[in-house]
Amino acid sequence: MRLHIHQRRGVWQTAFHLACHGALVAHVSASCAPYPISVRIGNVTLPNQSNARGIEMAVGSPKQRFAFLPQWPLNNTMIYGTSGFCELWATPWTEKGCMTFRGGEYDSFASQTRTQASANAYPIDTRPYPAMNFVADTLKVNENVSLAGFPMGIALNSWGEQGYHPQMSVGMGFNSTFLSALQSSGKIAARAWGMFWGRQGANSNTQLDGSMVFGGYDKAKVTGQPFTQTLSSDRSSCATGMLVTITDLILNFPNGTNASLFPSAKSTSISACIVPDYPVLMTMPFNPFFSNFRNYTNASFDGGRSFGLNFFSVRYDDSKDMPYRGDLTIKLQSGLAVRIPNDQLVIPDTYSDPQTGKWIVNATDPTLIINSIQDVNANDPTQLGRQFLSAAYLMVNEERSQFWLWVANPTTMEDLVALDSDGSEADGPCRVPPVSPSDPNPTPSSNGVSPGAIAGITVGVLGVGAVAAAWVFWRRRQKRNVVEAEQGLGQETAAPFAAPFGVTYMKNQERCELGGGDAVEGNGALQPVDMEVQVQEHGRIHSPQVYYELPGTHNHPG
Ligand SMILES: *[C@@H]1O[C@H](CO)[C@@H](O)[C@H](O)[C@H]1NC(C)=O
Ligand SMILES: *[C@@H]1O[C@H](CO)[C@@H](O)[C@H](O)[C@H]1NC(C)=O
Ligand SMILES: *[C@@H]1O[C@H](CO)[C@@H](O)[C@H](O)[C@H]1NC(C)=O
Ligand SMILES: *[C@@H]1O[C@H](CO)[C@@H](O)[C@H](O)[C@H]1NC(C)=O
Ligand SMILES: *[C@@H]1O[C@H](CO)[C@@H](O)[C@H](O)[C@H]1NC(C)=O
Ligand SMILES: *[C@@H]1O[C@H](CO)[C@@H](O)[C@H](O)[C@H]1NC(C)=O
Ligand SMILES: *[C@@H]1O[C@H](CO)[C@@H](O)[C@H](O)[C@H]1NC(C)=O
Ligand SMILES: *[C@@H]1O[C@H](CO)[C@@H](O)[C@H](O)[C@H]1NC(C)=O
Ligand SMILES: *[C@@H]1O[C@H](CO)[C@@H](O)[C@H](O)[C@H]1NC(C)=O
Ligand SMILES: *[C@@H]1O[C@H](CO)[C@@H](O)[C@H](O)[C@H]1NC(C)=O
Repeated sequence: MRLHIHQRRGVWQTAFHLACHGALVAHVSASCAPYPISVRIGNVTLPNQSNARGIEMAVGSPKQRFAFLPQWPLNNTMIYGTSGFCELWATPWTEKGCMTFRGGEYDSFASQTRTQASANAYPIDTRPYPAMNFVADTLKVNENVSLAGFPMGIALNSWGEQGYHPQMSVGMGFNSTFLSALQSSGKIAARAWGMFWGRQGANSNTQLDGSMVFGGYDKAKVTGQPFTQTLSSDRSSCATGMLVTITDLILNFPNGTNASLFPSAKSTSISACIVPDYPVLMTMPFNPFFSNFRNYTNASFDGGRSFGLNFFSVRYDDSKDMPYRGDLTIKLQSGLAVRIPNDQLVIPDTYSDPQTGKWIVNATDPTLIINSIQDVNANDPTQLGRQFLSAAYLMVNEERSQFWLWVANPTTMEDLVALDSDGSEADGPCRVPPVSPSDPNPTPSSNGVSPGAIAGITVGVLGVGAVAAAWVFWRRRQKRNVVEAEQGLGQETAAPFAAPFGVTYMKNQERCELGGGDAVEGNGALQPVDMEVQVQEHGRIHSPQVYYELPGTHNHPG
């Protein structure tokens, strides 16, 4: 059944007019989906004047708000209790300090809706995740959507995650209980989601909230054509399945000149895994890429590493470095070129104080939000982290085993697009009930939607909502054909990792060669090391912890 676009538009204009008269007639469609669930990513206010950035959702009754981050290959949603196990770095943490670091603390005794979780209601997450104590409680996803009796695991210890994955986590693995619960209760049709991280510059002009959209994506936050790729089924080297190939990294100097960090023979590429919560823009193999960065920008990066928000990003040394003032363009084999503006690339070091839980912004020795790594294992892809999603918009469509990337349009405007159960853009909302304008109870209570109810559009489409929804879906139709036509464009067969770096893995921790061949003693800001990494935290050296992810570099020797 192929409708032409003007005919479809007719359908929706009709719906629009009927809605205006308060008598929206259900559009019986083969392809329908509930209204997508949009959740803010930004500073979440925690008790006692603390805050943390993340996906804002609330647990329990009364509501306890937390800052979540998505996490792979975790399947459960993992929260931290009143003991957040902030025993990292042998630093004394207060409860308040730990609360900021974890994005909140769940007080299970304070919640009247907490019950026991039945053991068959959730899968067990294996290593590296900690043992968890499961509870079932209400998870309020946004103002319209709640999951009652949702099983969540309270972490029973810290798990070597350090500052890489410190916060409350929504498990987005293959068997994500969160996506399953939304889908099985009819709140989303497709296991699909879109993400824009927002912006995290030094001042309010360069900061912007992002959003996570479940059951669809936000078309207002994309520009140009999408580039589509298949999620890789082998998750051993890339837990998210979002494997891309970086074919160029370009410095865009303020004077308009460009310089590639790639060797002049462009046979090289970098296999990279998109990890949407990873705390830096990217991990960058030192040789030759980061080494070239240093040479082109004439910086020593002797300031060591950040142990704060942008965990393990390199720091300039103010006494000798002029921080880079240009942008960085990341080009993928698919054709996508994403430009990271300087105000997101070079930012002051920011960390939360373990004692007070307050954020400290340190203008001395700013950070370049890149983690320079010595590539120890050609099968470990480099990682593209959350700041990549400040400049690119990501949509994952598990129904089609695909992910899409666009150049992001940084805006707080919203234009939500729903995907149906086949993973294609829905023709319209599902099961729209006829409504009379005199309906005394047209909207749900502010406590959200009761379990089992068809949430989203069924409720949200009433009255004014119907106009908006019809409008959204109608507008979307106009774009659909374009999108379909473009779908083939970005197809990138995930190229086998070429191991192109010619990197020698150096075990000598005392004496290491930098890219230029200088032997460096005792000044290890960029020296490659073995599995163990000594972590210095705000001036102190603590006993090393083994990372489950290798940062691959070493901080000051002390
Ligand atoms: C979020 O909180 C941090 C730390 O307090 C602050 O520096 C930043 O300006 C806040 N961002 C916004 C958008 O309010
Ligand atoms: C927050 O403040 C309240 C009231 O001042 C206090 O009882 C509570 O212990 C504080 N919580 C934390 C985590 O500091
Ligand atoms: C996913 O988790 C459910 C429990 O929530 C479990 O019954 C099921 O076997 C798991 N599926 C896979 C493929 O592990
Ligand atoms: C999540 O579920 C998938 C599918 O069952 C499984 O392969 C993966 O190992 C699970 N994740 C963890 C951390 O156990
Ligand atoms: C632009 O700036 C870069 C970096 O400072 C420099 O290497 C290059 O020569 C400059 N180009 C021009 C045309 O001035
Ligand atoms: C530098 O690269 C940008 C995009 O990365 C491009 O728009 C611009 O034209 C390039 N400038 C020169 C001089 O090649
Ligand atoms: C590079 O930095 C060094 C100090 O680290 C300085 O002496 C030198 O003049 C700089 N070179 C350029 C071309 O800016
Ligand atoms: C700021 O950074 C500098 C350089 O790393 C460090 O010496 C100083 O102690 C830091 N200040 C604070 C308040 O963290
Ligand atoms: C919740 O539903 C109302 C209409 O019922 C709608 O106006 C609002 O945008 C929805 N909120 C979100 C976050 O989707
Ligand atoms: C960086 O610059 C130094 C000194 O000019 C040079 O010896 C070295 O080969 C350069 N490194 C790279 C990777 O280009």
